[in-house]
Amino acid sequence: MRKLIVAGNWKMNTSVADGVELAKKISAYAEQKNLPAGKEIVIAPPFTHLASVAAAINPNKVILAAQDCAATTNGAYTGEVSASMLKGIGVKAVILGHSERRQYFKENSEILLKKIKLALAEGLDVIFCIGETKEQREAGANLYNNVIKAQLVDTVFTLTADEFKKIIIAYEPVWAIGTGLTATPEQAQEIHEMIRKAIADNFGKAVADDTTILYGGSCKASNAAEIFAKKDVDGGLIGGASLKADDFGKIIDAR
Ligand code: 13P
Repeated sequence: MRKLIVAGNWKMNTSVADGVELAKKISAYAEQKNLPAGKEIVIAPPFTHLASVAAAINPNKVILAAQDCAATTNGAYTGEVSASMLKGIGVKAVILGHSERRQYFKENSEILLKKIKLALAEGLDVIFCIGETKEQREAGANLYNNVIKAQLVDTVFTLTADEFKKIIIAYEPVWAIGTGLTATPEQAQEIHEMIRKAIADNFGKAVADDTTILYGGSCKASNAAEIFAKKDVDGGLIGGASLKADDFGKIIDAR
């Protein structure tokens, strides 16, 4: 079902104690707001925080997500955390394909597809991130549209339509992440529309109309409303501005 989602990606920030406090504030805010059906709040704290945060939030009001999961099932993979381990502590969704993981940890479409399938097999929703770099944007629309489409074709477009229904797409232009440069509402809409059309071409219009497509990249209280107002933008994946409960609350209220 197409939803309106405001998701906070905490990245590698906050102590466990501070993270639990932040999560409690966000949960209390969600309880007090009584959000309409179809509007959801997601938070994605670091792995170390997940169990404590799961115990601190109202799971009917805030969806707990992880920022990554392993590309294998349990076994001899030092340092990894599997989708089934996440499921076991109350995690409901996982962010995969974030540009920071692609860039710093060399995650490619092949690895990401394995992660996606394992997450789906555990019943987790997947927030799948795609987006072009600054150089790709500067090379022109033909190139960046093809880059974004290829990120879909090589991964989530190989799923069945039923599997794809558990995928939330997050368009995050790499040049806008943590830079203070935001895509204009028009730039975001142009790409979201292109993504929805690519989904329609692959899975049919009904699936495309049902897909939630989030925008991420320097989205904050001051610009969220105008971006979320665009017809193909179904909310946001928020980094820096999700670390302060007040700011995150204003973004939740933006649409
Ligand atoms: P910022 O909101 O800090 O630019 O980060 C966006 C992001 O990467 C969310 O996943």
